[in-house]
This record gives sequence, structure tokens and C-alpha cells, in this order.
Amino acid sequence: MDVGIVGLRQLESMPKRIFSGVKPTGPLHLGNYLGALRNWVELQRQYESFFCIVNLHAITIPVDPDYLSALTLEIARLYVAAGIDPEISTIFIQSDVPEHAELAWILNCSTRMSELERMTQYKEQARKQRESIGAGLFEYPVLMAADILLYQTNLVPVGEDQKQHLELTRDLAIRFNRDYGETFQVPEPYIPKVGARIMSLSDPLKKMSKSDDDPNGCVMLLDDADTVRRKFKRAVTDSGTQIKFDDSRPAITNLLTIYQLLTGKAPADVEAHFTGKGYTQLKQDLAEVTIEFLRPLQERVRGISADDLRGILEHGRNKAQGIARATLAQVMTRRGVVGASGSN
Ligand code: TYM
Repeated sequence: MDVGIVGLRQLESMPKRIFSGVKPTGPLHLGNYLGALRNWVELQRQYESFFCIVNLHAITIPVDPDYLSALTLEIARLYVAAGIDPEISTIFIQSDVPEHAELAWILNCSTRMSELERMTQYKEQARKQRESIGAGLFEYPVLMAADILLYQTNLVPVGEDQKQHLELTRDLAIRFNRDYGETFQVPEPYIPKVGARIMSLSDPLKKMSKSDDDPNGCVMLLDDADTVRRKFKRAVTDSGTQIKFDDSRPAITNLLTIYQLLTGKAPADVEAHFTGKGYTQLKQDLAEVTIEFLRPLQERVRGISADDLRGILEHGRNKAQGIARATLAQVMTRRGVVGASGSN
């Protein structure tokens, strides 16, 4: 029996799947929420959903082990506090499912060096690290492809910066299917029209990032009210006085975009709200809206006990591993990688 084809056929009549993840290299920020998590929360009721904390990706750059292990759990808590419902979505830690690393190896063997050399995120990181670039950083996008392909994922909700990695994932899936028979669902990216690239508050030409050198550029989901006020107060603005969405004025447009997404208002209503007001008012209003948004989220974080979290992550691991094992077994068979028993 051709297990792979049956697997794919069965999938056609099943609810479609989404997979996404966050790399625990720094505390979650508004960009992560507005570009990714917000959409996960919305999509989880229409799709069978898998949300991962991708800790194996985090070690591709230098990171303190104690910090990494604590942050991994903090991010899992934030998933739940942000509205991922563990009753309907699967939340798990990447290293709990070793099939991710195993599939990454197999995919590595059909990935071209030139494909990885083209990755802009690799090139940016490599520039920062110069001579100490690890091979793991180079192969990062292959592990990401493995994350996605293991779950026969249909849709991957991410911010704009992950688009190139998604294209590689699709290429690897298509190539494997062509060379070894239909095995993988070819995933589509889901990149929101608004919020896919939230910019740094201190440099509106750079994306808001966990690794921003200037801590004022990035509002963390766990920042307290005073810190949020201080960061918005220092936010860079454009010259002029108009408060309107305008691509030629990236700082104000970024602040308005954050305001729009956190209030759920239409762009015209956002502009109307700020008519006749100045930049100081914009920053103050935005700080208060952000604080009001973060308050309940932070309360929920504090309400999740260590036991509850462990239960959610163990349940998630079991659910994820069942699917990951089935895909990996098909992949190994297709490649003729069999053990002593003649099968895997
Ligand atoms: P990471 O951890 O950098 O970011 C997590 C998610 O947040 C989005 N994001 C942003 N969106 C809008 N504006 C911003 N300034 C901003 N900064 C980050 C990212 O696009 C992402 O969706 N390689 C991935 C992690 C990963 C993954 C995966 C994602 C590993 N395997 C499989 C999806 C599927 C990353 O580093 O994301």
C-alpha cells in the first residue's frame, strides 16, 4: 500500500492545517504579536493549528542556556495569554519532537548550497557575526522547512520577513515530491495585509526586532506601563505635522498602523481621530492604547501555573509527535533509509 498517497488523500477531506512558530531569542514584542500571533488567534478556529516554540532555531546564534530555557516557557505562556486556546490548538516545543531535526537532515541532503546562500536573513546575521558564523545558521531555513512539512501544513501565518523562507520550503517540498513521489503538502504563506512589517520605534526603516541594538525601538509584550510610555515618548517621527497614513512618512505610518491594529479602527477613522492633534498626542494616545491592550494579556500570563503549562506542552508534544512520526516514516521509506528490521 502506498501510505504517502493515502495520507495525502485523507488530508483532502480533513480540516486544513496551519503551522507557525516563534524563535526564543528574545522576549516577544508588538511586531511578533501584530505580524503573527494575532492572526494565529483568528485562524485557529478555521484550521487545525500547530504553534511551536522553535528552540532549536534559537541556538543557531549565541544564547545563554539558562536564558533560553526560561524564555522557551515564557513564550509558551504568552501564546496562551495572547489567545491561543490549548483546547483547540496544539502548542509544543520543537525539541520535544526530535523528528524536526531528523527531517531537517534529510531535507538538507536535497537542498542546494546556492539556495541557502541567497537567504537574506542568513546574510544579515552573517554580517553581524562575521568569522563565527555557525553551520546551523546557514541551515536554519531547512529546519524551518522541516517544521512546516512534517505537519502536512496548508497555511503558514507569518510576518513579511519569513516570506523567502516560505518560498524555499515550497521549493523543497515540490522537489521532494517530484523526485521521490507525492509526500508533502505544499504550504502557502499567510502574510497579513496590515501589520506584516511593524517597524522599530527608533528607526522606522528597520523592522521591530528582538535583536534591536536600541531597546527603545521595541515594545515588549511584558513591558510595564511606564516603559511603554517612555518608549513611545522617544519614538522617532517624520518632519512635518500631518498625521496621515503615507508611505513617504514611515515613522508616522508605523505608529498609525500599530494604533489601527490595536484599536480595530478603520484607517479613515484613525486619521479622523488625530485630526488637529500633534505628534505628542499621537504618541500619548498610542501608549495608552498599548497599555490597555497589554494589561489583560499580562494578567493572563501571571494566571497560568507551571503545572498547567506543563500539561499543555505535554499534550501538545504527544499530538504533534504522532503526526510528525507518520510523515517522517513516509519520507525515510521514500528515500530508502531503513533500519535493521528492513523498515522504519
Ligand atoms: P521570529 O521568532 O523572528 O518571529 C516570529 C513571528 O513574528 C513575525 N515578526 C514580525 N511581524 C511583523 N513585524 C515585525 N517587526 C516582526 N518581527 C517578527 C515573524 O515574521 C514571525 O512570523 N524563522 C521564524 C521562526 C520559525 C517559523 C518556523 C515560523 C521557525 N520555524 C515555521 C513559521 C513556520 C522566526 O525567526 O520568527
